[in-house]
Amino acid sequence: MRTGTSRRSDEDVDDQEHTTARIERGAGAHADRRARRRTDPHPRGHGEEAFDTLHAAGKVRNFGVSNHTPGQIELLKRSLNQPLVVNQVQLSITHSPLFAAGIAANMAGLDQSIDRDNGLLDYSRLNDMTLQAWSPFQKAFFDGVFLGDRENFAELNDVLDELAAAYGVTPTGIAVAWITRHPANIQVVLGTTTPSRVVESAAGSEIPLTREEWYRLFTAAGHTVP
Ligand SMILES: NC(=O)c1ccc[n+]([C@@H]2O[C@H](COP(=O)([O-])OP(=O)(O)OC[C@H]3O[C@@H](n4cnc5c(N)ncnc54)[C@H](OP(=O)(O)O)[C@@H]3O)[C@@H](O)[C@H]2O)c1
Repeated sequence: MRTGTSRRSDEDVDDQEHTTARIERGAGAHADRRARRRTDPHPRGHGEEAFDTLHAAGKVRNFGVSNHTPGQIELLKRSLNQPLVVNQVQLSITHSPLFAAGIAANMAGLDQSIDRDNGLLDYSRLNDMTLQAWSPFQKAFFDGVFLGDRENFAELNDVLDELAAAYGVTPTGIAVAWITRHPANIQVVLGTTTPSRVVESAAGSEIPLTREEWYRLFTAAGHTVP
């Protein structure tokens, strides 16, 4: 880190060795991307030497982060020689503070109006940083999928079924389309181990939902559109 010690930290070594081992366990000789998962506020190396070494060795071509706010990204960028091209964040129709806060900005007494990521959506678009949506089908935080959950999300599943029939895809595809339809060009990170769900998701990623359809899904999931 240029603002602190230049000594190679234990964390840098760990990061570099961990990444190299992961690449070598996988199929390829390099990774297209390496993402730093969450920020750690304690004084330590930011991994810049590990990034330099992995990049120079051709092990990693592009770097990114996960769950970082705009301020955290700006702070980290000061220590790095490579651009940060992606940021993975949790995003699904039912877990969408990334979109929802801005849609209901500045509304007193409305929980949705709380900005939980310091304007990450606008920051990412203004800085050409690609957002990647993790847990695209989860209700909230690893508590099961909203697809087919009629007990908690009956209205949402009605709209998903209706749009799936209209577009000739599955509700899974429409859930993906809801993310990819946004002009921020967000990429979807699937967690499924079921090949057919990957195919359904890919089919949905090309669906051009109308603005009205997009907002119908959003409100059916319980969000407010002022
Ligand atoms: N950067 C980060 O901090 C972070 C955090 C968490 C996750 N991630 C990444 O994001 C990826 C996706 O997250 P995730 O796994 O939570 O996402 P997800 O794709 O929303 O959920 C996958 C899980 O939901 C099940 N599922 C999917 N569609 C279903 C359906 N229609 N009906 C019933 N079950 C269904 C899958 O089961 P089947 O396997 O049986 O299809 C799987 O158990 C992870 O694999 C991980 O790589 C990143």
